[in-house]
Amino acid sequence: MSSPATLTPQSGSLPSEQLLPGGGRLSGSVRVPGDKSISHRALLFGAIAEGETRIEGLLPAEDPLSTAACLRAMGVEVSEIVAGQPVWVRGVGLDGFREPENVLDCGNSGTTMRLMLGLLAGRAGRHFVLSGDASLRRRPMRRVGGPLGEMGASIHGRQGGNLAPLAIEGQSLRGATIRTPVASAQVKSALLLAALTAGGPTTVIEPHLSRDHSERMLRAFGADLRVEAPEGTTVTVHPGPSLRGQEVVVPGDISSAAFWLVAAAITPGSDLTIENVGLNPSRTGILEVLEAMGARVEILNRRDVAGEPVGDLRAQHGALRPFTIGGELIPRLVDEIPILAVAACCAEGVSRISDAAELRVKETDRLAVMARQLGAMGARLQEHPDGLTIEGITPLKAATVDSETDHRVAMSLAVASLVATGDTVLHDPGAAAVSYPGFWDDLSRLRV
Ligand code: S3P
Repeated sequence: MSSPATLTPQSGSLPSEQLLPGGGRLSGSVRVPGDKSISHRALLFGAIAEGETRIEGLLPAEDPLSTAACLRAMGVEVSEIVAGQPVWVRGVGLDGFREPENVLDCGNSGTTMRLMLGLLAGRAGRHFVLSGDASLRRRPMRRVGGPLGEMGASIHGRQGGNLAPLAIEGQSLRGATIRTPVASAQVKSALLLAALTAGGPTTVIEPHLSRDHSERMLRAFGADLRVEAPEGTTVTVHPGPSLRGQEVVVPGDISSAAFWLVAAAITPGSDLTIENVGLNPSRTGILEVLEAMGARVEILNRRDVAGEPVGDLRAQHGALRPFTIGGELIPRLVDEIPILAVAACCAEGVSRISDAAELRVKETDRLAVMARQLGAMGARLQEHPDGLTIEGITPLKAATVDSETDHRVAMSLAVASLVATGDTVLHDPGAAAVSYPGFWDDLSRLRV
């Protein structure tokens, strides 16, 4: 059982370590904050539209704040981002960015840096420098700069343009047909954004479908964008039309909801409802895996909100079977693999994750970090170049663990601590604020 004394709520002054008592159960309702991917896009597309964009439900977390700060540095008016209040963006049009006087700081946000590369590469005659925190400066950027180079972009950085700080000399871009080597929505979206002002049509072909929020939202803003049916992995943009400011409603982030789904599924006696969760099919791989595990998860009140499917999710504790995942499913749950590793510890048998080498270039090397940290709690797991093998059911034991600065690792370890015997100590719990600033408050409130 938790008490307010041991579970310090996150209210601006989170301690550098968090005591996480094992035991107890979770009960009640929670509204997770807005979808991170959709929040970035709403800000960015609003900035390059004509007129005003009003965003409801924008995620008030560190990553979208980084995007907003970069946009403001280029002359875009973005209203203050305050939880529960709509955000306004006054667009400057497709080519209206002012040259910033200083380095654009993308913080910890890969989405900010990669989408900005696409947006800025075609701003002819202007110079931009993008950088970020230590984690972001280690992440591969040539996957965006390389294909943008085929359109005529000029991007330079350390390791032959792979590592930030990155300098962009804005150019007049040409249209191209580009096959991306990885199914990455960040790479795809960067190319689609560059395509909006290229000299001719651009087609992006990805190996598997990655999240398609950019396609949906760019079309709603008035871009001439066509997705080839049926699998949606080929997208063509015809440059020309200017974008028009829109009303965007951001649903709750299924990647944040995933922590509560697994927490309820593994913690005896739990029953949680997570309201207003985005259910875009390119993001719902986690629900398919939980269903295959036999988890008691129901989708209630399905509806459509501003072009994205939404529903409420109810999750209850129950026995779990192991899972095997790989292939085209991975991009549809790529951010949920750390929490699925926790779920696997509580499933009877051997779970296998493969084709997930992309996790090694996220905010941290999430395969290595989860193997290290869950291993410290007694998990029986093996790390492979492209995944993990996890044996359950393993009774986890309390340990001193570390988020290693990764928001999703912090929250996954907090969920693991619920089923551990004893008190877990988590270093750097504040990392959660990158995507879910109220996580510790919600955890404290939902525990009974
Ligand atoms: C995101 C795409 C994914 C995901 C990230 C957000 C996006 O990255 O991991 O958290 O908003 O486009 P990749 O596109 O690199 O797979």
